[in-house]
Amino acid sequence: MKLLKMNIAAAALALVSSLTAHAAEPIKIGMVLPMSGPFAAYGKQIEHGARLYLATNGDTVAGRKIELIIKDDSPGTAGDVSKRLATELVVKDKVDILAGFGLTPSAFAVGPVATEGKKAMVVMNAATSAVTTKSNYIVRTSMTLPQITAPIASWAAKNKIKKVFTLVADYGPGHDAEGQFKKTFTAAGGEIVGEVRAPVKNPDFAPFLQKIKDTKPDAVFIFLPPGAETIAFMKGFAERGLAAAGIRLICTGDLTDEDILDALGESAVGVISSFHYSEAHKSPENKAYTEAYAKAYPKDRPNFMSVGGYDGMHLIMDVLKKNGGNTDADKFVEAAKGMKWVSPRGAISIDPATRDIVQTIYIRKVEKVGGKLQNVEFDQVADFKDPGKP
Ligand code: PHB
Repeated sequence: MKLLKMNIAAAALALVSSLTAHAAEPIKIGMVLPMSGPFAAYGKQIEHGARLYLATNGDTVAGRKIELIIKDDSPGTAGDVSKRLATELVVKDKVDILAGFGLTPSAFAVGPVATEGKKAMVVMNAATSAVTTKSNYIVRTSMTLPQITAPIASWAAKNKIKKVFTLVADYGPGHDAEGQFKKTFTAAGGEIVGEVRAPVKNPDFAPFLQKIKDTKPDAVFIFLPPGAETIAFMKGFAERGLAAAGIRLICTGDLTDEDILDALGESAVGVISSFHYSEAHKSPENKAYTEAYAKAYPKDRPNFMSVGGYDGMHLIMDVLKKNGGNTDADKFVEAAKGMKWVSPRGAISIDPATRDIVQTIYIRKVEKVGGKLQNVEFDQVADFKDPGKP
């Protein structure tokens, strides 16, 4: 009898300790990001934002700590690499949620991994409109190219720009930007007088710049993924005399983002863009964000990718809180639909029909503010949905 009692006590103890061990198990978030190579700044900024959210708002939900596992899918444009790493995260690391995704080819390739592995997938940057159609488990907290392009096309048509030459990177987001710009600008009476698509890898912009100069448009509209090449392009625009010839440069805000703005220097002053986030956005939430960012990462400036990571983590934590720590992908997406909050960029929500983000798009101009180049917002289109969805 005594022996039986002891066995029961031991079994109860084992059960309790296994339950506590389970309760203390972390919730693992597998992040696929370019951490090296030409787009290393994307991974850096997204990781900064995601970690800053956890540091300032708490990293525990339902008694479980959040653990980030980051895989470097450099260069970020090779879908097969991203797919292999995401599969490893699901199968070997047994992550609960997938997140990150700097560039479109990465998000496109991992969509089917999320579907098969039944994992929620939070896209924190990749911005081709069609990304969210690659899996029903995708929710996006960044932007879409049609969403950030349409407002600058409307602005141009209203501001005496009649003839535009378009120059975009030759892949998903570039095609989206080109298509939306043409659609909105020509519907408002504008004319497209030339268009070119530059390779994503090692583009040589010199012949394009010459062609644009010879065509003499009122303005050139550009989408290029930010990086060393964009910096070279912006400098070339000034050096080859396009600005001096009276050709204006208009773009989506990727081209003047805060991570490259200091390197662009004077060549960026006066550039008009449309975008969802500026470090100079005036709100209490952004003041708190930029101050916390400066303290945590004094060598860097917060840009839109950091905010995509910050809001992506905000979404994950709010969903997990709502679901009591349950990471089931179907429950995750259901809870995410229609969620609203105030981001450092302004008020945002998740469109329940598309799982994509609804947000205000601002028109901005690069100016020197207190000796620092900033994207100063001066107009806006509120609560704007992705116009790229069929
Ligand atoms: C993308 O590849 O989807 C992408 C990359 C950089 C951007 C925007 C979109 O600034």
